[in-house]
Amino acid sequence: MGTEAMSWAPAELDLSRPNAARMYDYFLGGSHNFAADRQAADAVLAVAPHVADAARANREFLRRSVRYALQQGIRQFIDLGSGIPTVGNVHDIAHSVNADARVLYVDVEPVAVAHARALLGVDPRVDVIQADICFPDSIFNNPATQRLIDLGRPVAILFVSVLHFIPGDVNAIVEPFRAAASPGSALVISHATSGAATSQTEEVQRLYQRTPTPLQLRTAAEVETLFGHFHMVPASSTATSPTSGAPLVPVAEWRPEPDDQVETRQSVASPFLNAFLAGMGRKGVADHG
Ligand SMILES: C[S@@+](CC[C@H](N)C(=O)[O-])C[C@H]1O[C@@H](n2cnc3c(N)ncnc32)[C@H](O)[C@@H]1O
Repeated sequence: MGTEAMSWAPAELDLSRPNAARMYDYFLGGSHNFAADRQAADAVLAVAPHVADAARANREFLRRSVRYALQQGIRQFIDLGSGIPTVGNVHDIAHSVNADARVLYVDVEPVAVAHARALLGVDPRVDVIQADICFPDSIFNNPATQRLIDLGRPVAILFVSVLHFIPGDVNAIVEPFRAAASPGSALVISHATSGAATSQTEEVQRLYQRTPTPLQLRTAAEVETLFGHFHMVPASSTATSPTSGAPLVPVAEWRPEPDDQVETRQSVASPFLNAFLAGMGRKGVADHG
């Protein structure tokens, strides 16, 4: 494979190895990916074409969850595993509703961080740090976090499509964020689960083994425990009580909106969309609608 020197690519990149962040960028139609990423992503799409819909549906869930948090008066966002900036980044969504909203992006992948830095320029309301979320203290102690985020006020903590790239006990990662968040804060998680485990899923997992972050599917029950004692926000805006309906639903079915591209009915037809679950919990607040 020839080298693909790109002005936006940090020098230390291993271009020969596919990377989940850049494969996701490719699924979403982005251009911050290399031949190895595209080949791996095309191999995934060949066995599981719905993975591209799942990526889009996840991105739409992110948008709806950020809007919902803003409607609840939350003005600060920590986006963990934020990815390569694309259409509908958290600060774009947040600032379209509240120009004062603050957003901290965190990712371990150099292209994601370099591109975010270039895109953001100098904006006192937004920052990006390169950090591994497996070490929450490195995020809390980072000067950018301390400048931007006031943990004494409600914050939305976003673990959107990231925890399934991390092996082992991910509650040890989420718990410090739950503990540090003040009442009114929101915890947002989307996670690929093992609900639809088929030979297709196994093949997708095998393809991700080539990346530095193989896929770690968990059960819906395991993902639910990550919300701890947070109150689950009803996934349907028509639910009548906080306990009605399942706490986690497929990403396309969490409070769908008319401007969604991936529709709920597509979700029913796709094992990948069906097993890609999402939810939001609030600390000390039971949202009823
Ligand atoms: C599929 S992308 C999701 C991007 C975005 N959150 C979204 O849902 O659109 C997963 C991101 O998680 C990042 N990631 C994976 N493991 C990580 C870790 N241990 N610490 C920080 N970021 C991580 C990857 O680099 C990638 O950018």
